[in-house]
Amino acid sequence: MSEKLKIVGVVGARPNFMKIAPLAARLRRDPESFEFILVHTGQHYDHGMNGVFFQELGIPEPDVHLGVGSASHAEQTARIMLGFERVLFELKPGLVIVVGDVNSTVAASLVASKMGIGLAHVEAGLRSHDRRMPEEINRIVTDTLSDLLFTPSRQADRNLLDEGVPQSRICLVGNIMIDTLVNHLRLAGKQRVVESMGLEPGNYCLVTLHRPSNVDNSAVLEEIIDALIRVAEILPVVFPIHPRTRKMLSASGLLERLEKDSAVRLVEPLGYLDFLALMKSAKLVFSDSGGIQEETTYLRIPCLTLRENTERPETIEQGTNILVGHDGGRIYQEALKIIEGRGKKGGELEFWDGKVAERIAEELKKRSGFFLTPVEERLRPEVTL
Ligand code: UD1
Repeated sequence: MSEKLKIVGVVGARPNFMKIAPLAARLRRDPESFEFILVHTGQHYDHGMNGVFFQELGIPEPDVHLGVGSASHAEQTARIMLGFERVLFELKPGLVIVVGDVNSTVAASLVASKMGIGLAHVEAGLRSHDRRMPEEINRIVTDTLSDLLFTPSRQADRNLLDEGVPQSRICLVGNIMIDTLVNHLRLAGKQRVVESMGLEPGNYCLVTLHRPSNVDNSAVLEEIIDALIRVAEILPVVFPIHPRTRKMLSASGLLERLEKDSAVRLVEPLGYLDFLALMKSAKLVFSDSGGIQEETTYLRIPCLTLRENTERPETIEQGTNILVGHDGGRIYQEALKIIEGRGKKGGELEFWDGKVAERIAEELKKRSGFFLTPVEERLRPEVTL
């Protein structure tokens, strides 16, 4: 019998959780091939940003928790590196798997690769080509260091090839977040959140906002909020507020204005199922998130993305997504078009089929010999994956 591959999976922040859930479940179903250990960095720690996702998505309790919390980018990244290095010394896995593009992703990647441990990145190859986004730096560094790059789309493959990544390291597997969406659609259908908020299905808008480029500058934030308040004159607006955004709205006095508007429902960050339920019955979604561009495309709900660019261009070319930046007039005009029934309809995307975790597990099995090879041999320049 061949040796099993010991894998450490890393999560830290909200958008990581829906990406690790199907993979953790799949790898743990095959204990003869894999030993899967989950490490949580503690980048996100509030129940609403963290615990609720573990419960609803059935993610196993982390085996190790680093408890790093919030700090500046350098300090948060450094704290994760210090804690994660100790964990890897102790566990000595054959492979570390990181997902997405948050600070936890890049911090864990740096530690693993400097220790000569195999590194795989799930959701590799996304590029916004905008280095003002911290996530873009995280993506570039993580992909550069990874031995194995699991990509969600052909465009992601092209981005990596353009940067000189050898084809042999790239595996096109599809979008893992859609696995989680597919697995939870039925349960989300049983949530009563739309009714309990007194909303009519198909007759309200949903908003999320958290990107520093939108919320940390009060003039930009005000322009967006003004546009949303105008939209709320036509359709109610549901707005689950990220902790960073709440702080900035409160500091700029905009929170008060929103609270006074009865057509705007301000709520705390929502769990996965409630948010999915609200998204699938919305008339339109405004967001600056990465994942929501994809989820709305899958659900065929129009999405206005409050950004100048996207690392997920297929949601624009084939899906329901439109980039509107933070220009208030543009946001309002595009929303009006959708409300009048002139929104994008979108289509089906390749490999958004709920079988991504399965494809990753199969690829890992094929390549486990490589990751089980002693590091001195595996890292010799002439050895390729
Ligand atoms: C992080 C990710 C971003 C992702 C987002 C999803 C990076 C660089 N950014 O951004 O890509 O889209 O998560 O939410 O990794 N806070 C709390 N409670 C928490 C977590 C954070 O109150 O549980 C507050 C803290 O004041 C903190 C601020 O939110 O300073 C920002 O948290 P941080 O993890 O630094 O970045 P996010 O903006 O959440």
